[in-house]
Amino acid sequence: MSDSVARQIESLRQQLEQHNRAYYLDDAPLVPDAEYDRLFRELQQLEADNPEYFDINSPTQRVGGEALDLFNKVRHARPMLSLGNAFADDEVADFDRRVREGLELGEQSVTYLAEPKLDGLAISLRYEQGQLVTAATRGDGTTGEDVTANIRTLRALPLKLAGHGWPELLEVRGEVFISKAGFEQLNARQLEAGEKTFANPRNAAAGSLRQLDSRITAQRPLTLFCYGWGDHSGTLPDSHYQVLLQLGEWGLPVSPLIQPVTGLAGCLKYFEKMEQQRPTLPYEIDGVVFKVDRREWQQELGQVARAPRWALARKFPAEEAVTQLLAIDLQVGRTGTITPVARLAPVKVGGVVVTNATLHNEDEIRRKGLEPGCQVVVRRAGDVIPQVVSRVPAAGEAEPVTANPFKMPSECPECGSAVVREVDEAAYRCSGGLACPAQRKQAIRHFAGRTAMDVEGLGDKLVDQLVERDLLSTVADIYRLTHEQVAGLERMAAKSADNLLMAIDRSRETTLARFIFALGIRHVGEATAAALADACGSLDALIAADVEMLEQIEDVGPVVARSIYDFMHEPHNLTVIEALLEQGVHWPQGESKPPQAQPLAGKVLVITGTFSRPRPAIKADLQRLGAKVTGSVSKKTDWVAVGDSPGSKASKAEELGIEIIDEAGVERLLGH
Ligand code: IVH
Repeated sequence: MSDSVARQIESLRQQLEQHNRAYYLDDAPLVPDAEYDRLFRELQQLEADNPEYFDINSPTQRVGGEALDLFNKVRHARPMLSLGNAFADDEVADFDRRVREGLELGEQSVTYLAEPKLDGLAISLRYEQGQLVTAATRGDGTTGEDVTANIRTLRALPLKLAGHGWPELLEVRGEVFISKAGFEQLNARQLEAGEKTFANPRNAAAGSLRQLDSRITAQRPLTLFCYGWGDHSGTLPDSHYQVLLQLGEWGLPVSPLIQPVTGLAGCLKYFEKMEQQRPTLPYEIDGVVFKVDRREWQQELGQVARAPRWALARKFPAEEAVTQLLAIDLQVGRTGTITPVARLAPVKVGGVVVTNATLHNEDEIRRKGLEPGCQVVVRRAGDVIPQVVSRVPAAGEAEPVTANPFKMPSECPECGSAVVREVDEAAYRCSGGLACPAQRKQAIRHFAGRTAMDVEGLGDKLVDQLVERDLLSTVADIYRLTHEQVAGLERMAAKSADNLLMAIDRSRETTLARFIFALGIRHVGEATAAALADACGSLDALIAADVEMLEQIEDVGPVVARSIYDFMHEPHNLTVIEALLEQGVHWPQGESKPPQAQPLAGKVLVITGTFSRPRPAIKADLQRLGAKVTGSVSKKTDWVAVGDSPGSKASKAEELGIEIIDEAGVERLLGH
């Protein structure tokens, strides 16, 4: 027994050491933090239960990794601490109880400063006489790396403190990070330059800060928020909150989301609020931090080995987990796109059990070296569809080795038609069209759907049967189904057959917008279908429209316009439309609106700033006169309408020499 415990402890220590190196030295973690935390906790528990195996070199006895030799080492005047973690509300309750007991407060509530837990990397900034002299990473908490040259490139950071009253010596602590948008842009640039991409914003921030060449760092969208301090001269305000507000006054960036809260209830409420805001925040947070606000109390509480007793991190459920990739299946979509799908051993991520994940395309699968049987990191953030982030190398493997690189088949897995790769796109498509049962089934499902023709009762299973029995080859065949045909299907009683035929009959009466949407034209969703119906007024007008006319319609860009045009010029589609009309599908013939004069047709406008009328109202008025109102300024823009406190769009317009008009100018365009 004890032998096997010893082996288990040794194995965990080795694994954690391997992960430490990958994470702290290579900026390339092999597993998500949650998996690391799990192994760490497991080892902690085993060591606590078996004190005879204590080892000063165990990963539990030190925090993080050593500083790289390439940067100068900096000894922190005061150690940079870590935080205790909580993964559930009752652990927050325990923390609150420990705090109150430690301070002998009885039932009295404690004021905590609640802050977002930023997901980046910790930095210590030393200001002397108000000037930034050193910036150091956390390293092992005692000694970090001198990254001053890199930190100086962060535009969010003052090189000289602003205002007055700052102490002669001030060490500020904060978190360096990259926004979600900055991360996407950085990865796009890396990809274009043929460089490696980063798994998440945190790795991107770490990789960017640990650049030996600060010119590279300067091009990275790094930023920071300050949340604490280390060594300092003079005195600072009495509460953590007041100190952070003071740092803000000295020009240091402090998160606008920090907030003092009262007692456990206040902490839990704040956590809930941040959990809701999380998806819409521009940067990643992995939890919230609660700190006893009164500094005197912080001192009284002190710290345990690696973390203060007065602070706690309440983490969100992990958004990444490790599981096995069971198979790579191919799905044929309604419009023929073939998408690989990862079948996964069930795993809980972001609070739900995940068994499938999208894989986008062949290139991505090959780049990540994915193959059935391998271990993968799965990510699911908020409502986002789960994704396979990367492959985890097998034990002892530095880089994953792929025995069978994935290859897209040359024939459609559903119908055997040739698979074609779209020009300029990574997507593959089955060329079989409606001859491909997969496409046929989905086209029919889409047509019958609730937001399309709304044929009640014509569900997926029925459609599958009807297609498999060759009773439906186009959507028009739905209206030719007979009672005998329907009643002959599996699990279909005479009564249900009647109901289905009645529902089919009812669906004959529809609206033009629904009908257009039901046709399943590529890129035409519900909103676009409605816009098309509105703008064209009749199906004939839509069929007759040329690409240029279509592009005038709201939400319709060149790609969508082309797709509609192509659809309406494919003889097969026109035959189906005709058949549908022959079968009695109809809609109210709108009193075909007299086309309004469109003096602004072909003109492109951008609106920025505040106007005396709501912007959407102005936009609608301009569109009614034929103008296209877009969100960003480009060479194609004719006018930029600038209201009060305009954004960067106004300066962009000046740069490009585009005519700027004020509110009065807009009203003149509108003929008011
Ligand atoms: S306070 C005295 N506040 O989380 C406690 N840390 O898990 C020191 N972090 O190393 C940390 N946001 O890099 C604190 N609002 C916040 C934070 C925060 C992110 C990071 C920090 C720290 C790690 C501990």
